[in-house]
Amino acid sequence: MSKKETVTLTDNSTGKQIELPILRPTNGTPTIDVRALYKELGYFTYDPGFLSTASCRSSITFLDGEEGVLQYGGYPIEQLARHSTFLETCYLLLSGELPNKKELKQFTTIITCHTMLHEALKRFYSGFRRDAHPMAIMVGVVGALSSFYHDEIDIQNAEHRMIAAHQLIAKMPTIAAWSYRYANGLPFTYPKNNLSYPENFLHMMFSMPTEPYEPDPFFVKALDLIMILHADHEQNASTSTVRLTGSSEANPFAAVSAGIASLWGPAHGGANESVIRMLVDIVESDNDVQYYVDRAKDKSNNFRLMGFGHRVYKNYDPRARIIRQTCHDLLEHLGKDNEYQELFDTAMELERIALEDDYFVSRNLYPNVDFYSGIILLAMGIPLNMFTVIFAMSRTVGWISHWNEMIQDPESRIGRPRQLYSGALPRDYINIEKR
Ligand code: CMC
Repeated sequence: MSKKETVTLTDNSTGKQIELPILRPTNGTPTIDVRALYKELGYFTYDPGFLSTASCRSSITFLDGEEGVLQYGGYPIEQLARHSTFLETCYLLLSGELPNKKELKQFTTIITCHTMLHEALKRFYSGFRRDAHPMAIMVGVVGALSSFYHDEIDIQNAEHRMIAAHQLIAKMPTIAAWSYRYANGLPFTYPKNNLSYPENFLHMMFSMPTEPYEPDPFFVKALDLIMILHADHEQNASTSTVRLTGSSEANPFAAVSAGIASLWGPAHGGANESVIRMLVDIVESDNDVQYYVDRAKDKSNNFRLMGFGHRVYKNYDPRARIIRQTCHDLLEHLGKDNEYQELFDTAMELERIALEDDYFVSRNLYPNVDFYSGIILLAMGIPLNMFTVIFAMSRTVGWISHWNEMIQDPESRIGRPRQLYSGALPRDYINIEKR
């Protein structure tokens, strides 16, 4: 029998010791199981931002930030990007395996059949201001799905959970496209079952009742690729939010709505929007790229290079490398004088200068997935405020796969972190007249 691997922790003030088991992952960093720590030694661990804390076991996605490796179900992201489709990747994330032809056909049919929204849901849109950010609409409308499906779902039932997953993956593009249509005073476009997943989204975004619409196949391919690259990223802020929300046994629509809210912030999924604002700012200003790099290094200034840096990647984000190439190909497809070339050239120049600068090199700050994706979306005619919505649409499969995994995990419990209290000591209430 192999010896149990442990680390020993000694409390120097009492001399007490505890043996903490080392858990070995199938791939990646070994993890110390600290669950007995409080019971045995009376201590919590302190780790704001989860810098060193694994919050769960997961078999969905593997990430090695030091080496710049990302795999879904063991398959390298580069191979999925080259050979797979978004729907096939969804199947992989949900089930852990790539589908055979029959399974993929069945899955595609199921997703296609769920793309319609309940007609009553349409009326929710008119409650929003015309200038509402589409992410605000997404948080609201996806949360509102609970009111349509909550009573039908038993989260302990695997089949019910899978139906909820299918509903979310299928309905998200419709909800997303309608948030754009509403904000632009355009009629809602219904999904079409003869179209592929990305074609359908482009159709619902851009087709007019008055004109035939045929999306550029290059855009369809690029959108599918962007969705594959954004489909999952293990325990990021929004996925952890979905898990935490779902850990109280809240329904999956409410949990995913919480995930969308978390994704919205500029430090997370909102960065793709901020990158374009930054690039436009650079192009339009009289200052050169070096000025912005210097600003990002200046600690008295809260400006950061958007689309740069990552909590986990201390190497080039593999998704950014793929997206940069696609961005290059797409702009070539659009022709030499396309209006986005200057943004791309500026982004490349920014990357070049930053990666030669000791500030960025010493902190391992590289372009992340958001650095180049916005240029592609912009070139496809997607407005800035829809960028994070497309991220949400793509990440829904990751969120729901993690939620499903969590519900089945016998070790999973309601998420309830501890704290290091720094407030007042007990004191007596003072009457307001005497304060
Ligand atoms: N520009 C300038 N300096 C930076 C940047 C940046 N983009 N990112 C990190 N740093 C510096 C930071 O000031 C700190 O310096 P020091 O050690 O001197 O205090 C050091 O690098 C470490 O940064 P951190 O803030 O402690 O790192 P973090 O892991 O807490 O934050 C991050 C990660 C992604 C929030 C951060 O890098 C950032 O704000 N980047 C810009 C926003 C962005 O592109 N977000 C998208 C992330 S990828 C997609 C996604 O997750 O949705």
